[in-house]
Amino acid sequence: MSNGSGIESVAVVGAGLMGSGIAESVAVAGIPVVLRDVDEVSIGRAGGKIESSLARAVAGGKLDAALATSARERVELTTDLAAIAGADLVIEAVPEDLDLKLDVMRGIDGVVDDDCMIASNTSSIPIAELAQAVRAPERVLGLHFFSPVPVMKLVEVVVALDTSPSILDTARAFVEEIGKRPIETKDRSGFIVNMLLIPYLMAAVRMYAEGFASREDIDTGMKLGCGYPMGPLTLCDFIGLDVLYAISNSLVEEFQAHEYAPPPLLKRMVASGRLGRKSGRGFYEYE
Ligand code: 3HC
Repeated sequence: MSNGSGIESVAVVGAGLMGSGIAESVAVAGIPVVLRDVDEVSIGRAGGKIESSLARAVAGGKLDAALATSARERVELTTDLAAIAGADLVIEAVPEDLDLKLDVMRGIDGVVDDDCMIASNTSSIPIAELAQAVRAPERVLGLHFFSPVPVMKLVEVVVALDTSPSILDTARAFVEEIGKRPIETKDRSGFIVNMLLIPYLMAAVRMYAEGFASREDIDTGMKLGCGYPMGPLTLCDFIGLDVLYAISNSLVEEFQAHEYAPPPLLKRMVASGRLGRKSGRGFYEYE
């Protein structure tokens, strides 16, 4: 296909919740996408997630059944990194761990063409640091998606010190082509959204940890009082407490400010495997 951005094929490296959601959104927009992870189990799980999300979109009247089938066919699931070779854009979406992400960036750089754009979906690791792992840092930027990716319309386009203005235009056009709205932000921890969201969520965790109010009343307060779709503790469980803990720590490291600090309870919950919805328990219990 041919489109305004010139991005005609995409690869996503890391097939977790974010990676599979990104691949689904790209495929629904009509662009072929390779979704790669290290093992068959992760790839199988990602295929299942995409299928159930597409089915949900069809059931909700958001997507025609035939388009859902063709979108599914546009996703190539693989464990072979070489399969990303022909992509115009590679988006890494592996877990929020600097060494892992640096390894993945090096791996991607070793396979792709010289003019391939490389994006990271990191929520808090400096893009400048990741860009140093590749031959041409000017081809690197952040594309930060929001969960659940097929539903949330926002992508933060993160401009690092070396990011070339020409790839920025391409990135913005691509984000619009996949039906999302780009907002531009400089490369500092938290970007726009998490810098505002994390102090709010951490304040809710502190409020709960101090016994100031019940989890239900904290959540109901923000849902019914402010019209948020989820209360803060439900949202913490939804994002994943380990993910939030990593983002909080990275904001603290960057800004040395108390408002971002993870409360002791959050650290204990992560240590005891209460990671939220994905582990079956967090502030609430799940089936
Ligand atoms: N594809 C397309 N559309 C879909 C879909 C899919 N796979 N699945 C659901 N939808 C649509 C539904 O049709 C529905 O549309 P409608 O409002 O027009 O009827 C809408 O999405 C909502 O779906 P549901 O009614 O099934 O579900 P809920 O009403 O329970 O909403 C929710 C679920 C969208 C998750 C909502 O609770 C919400 O918006 N929560 C907040 C999520 C949020 O804050 N995310 C950001 C997290 S922060 C982050 O990701 C950054 C990271 O760095 C931490």
